[in-house]
Amino acid sequence: MAEIAARFGTPTYVYCAATLRDHVGKLKAAFAPLSPRLCFAVKCCSNLGVLKVLSQAGCGMDVVSGGELYRALLVGVSPADIVYAGVGKTVPEIRMALGERAGMEVGRGVGREVERGIMRLPEGPISCFNIESEQELAAIAEQARLMGVRANAAVRVNPGVRAGGHEYITTAHDESKFGLPVVQAEALVKRFADDKHVRVRGLHMHIGSSITQPELYVTAVERMVAMIDRLAEAGVVIDSLDLGGGFAADYKTGDAPAPQRFAEAIVPLLAAKVAAGLKITIEPGRMVAANAGILLSRVLYTKQTGTRKFLIVDAGMHTLLRPALYEAFHFIWPASVSPQHEAKVRTEHPDLPGLEACDVVGPVCETGDFLAQQRLLPPVAPGELLAIFAAGAYGMSMASRYNSHPLPAEVLVDGETVEMVRRREVLGDLVEHELGGL
Ligand code: LLP
Repeated sequence: MAEIAARFGTPTYVYCAATLRDHVGKLKAAFAPLSPRLCFAVKCCSNLGVLKVLSQAGCGMDVVSGGELYRALLVGVSPADIVYAGVGKTVPEIRMALGERAGMEVGRGVGREVERGIMRLPEGPISCFNIESEQELAAIAEQARLMGVRANAAVRVNPGVRAGGHEYITTAHDESKFGLPVVQAEALVKRFADDKHVRVRGLHMHIGSSITQPELYVTAVERMVAMIDRLAEAGVVIDSLDLGGGFAADYKTGDAPAPQRFAEAIVPLLAAKVAAGLKITIEPGRMVAANAGILLSRVLYTKQTGTRKFLIVDAGMHTLLRPALYEAFHFIWPASVSPQHEAKVRTEHPDLPGLEACDVVGPVCETGDFLAQQRLLPPVAPGELLAIFAAGAYGMSMASRYNSHPLPAEVLVDGETVEMVRRREVLGDLVEHELGGL
């Protein structure tokens, strides 16, 4: 880490390719009886270097915008392995997903290469739109008609479970903006099952994120299976079921059940359906990427006030928003410590001598700009490096330039190779689209 910080500066996101592959392998092995397609949730870590590792490891992609679709295509993912969810798909995004590639050649560097035909984006429509409303379905049907293609779609169903690590990341309940309640979804599938322009023979669910209880999937999947059975009785055969993502990751050691535990809960409910031809997709994000990344940050100053000790670091809510937005826990530890301070487990209360409670805060002018509050840490001096763990998911992808801080660098470690997969932004990057205002 000291070497990486010296070479690339801080704050820097550091990803490990071997861990990404290991997590994909474990998920695939656990769910093997269902032979699912694994579509990585691009939103959780959308760096092209990371997506390329995952694509080469055999992942498809779950995207939620034209931008994410662009990224997936750039790393060479076949459109036939891309699913597209999200409540607000625009007409240009829908057309892109249906196979239009115009507009994808814009941009710098890569864009020009695409334009010159050096780098060809994979052609053809995506595998499946995950539909969130009736009007969206109509919009997709209309664009498919205009383009003379037939879209495939699944309706996103809210099976009515409240799951997830924080109220902001629960999705499958009646007040959610996502998907449709069972009755409405069922009616929509029946109407569009054999539509000329958009064939709706799939069901989709995503019940929340950071889910630690496999039982919640049992309830949800049972409801989906019942729905598939009712539709079959009505003459509509569902051929694909997308279970979404949501599997928790270890923020503290032992937080998350192993992939095997989720699979043991889900596989028995679907084995017969899969044997009869149902195709399964899963869309994990966090379980794959969270612990494949750390955020490396340097301590700028320390400050002792009457009641608090602050570590002021060069990362903050602009680099990693999760603590500020969800009060999320990220284990933080000095990158280099004396033997007595080696942390064997990630926990809020490490059982080690000589720790002191600190607030780890960033440079942003917001009281909410903290990475940890009252966290027990070994003594740390200005200039030392801190590792902020489990930052590979929803870290860089949620980073911003708030307070006009350039975005951090991203580095991918693959065996002996250390590669910068996003250069640190410079001041010019902050203003490049505003120069007309001068
Ligand atoms: N599929 C769909 C349709 C989703 O909306 C999501 C996440 C996933 C898959 C992947 O979920 P995962 O396996 O990563 O839990 N920013 C929040 C998490 C938001 C999750 C949004 N949807 C956080 O930092 O915790």
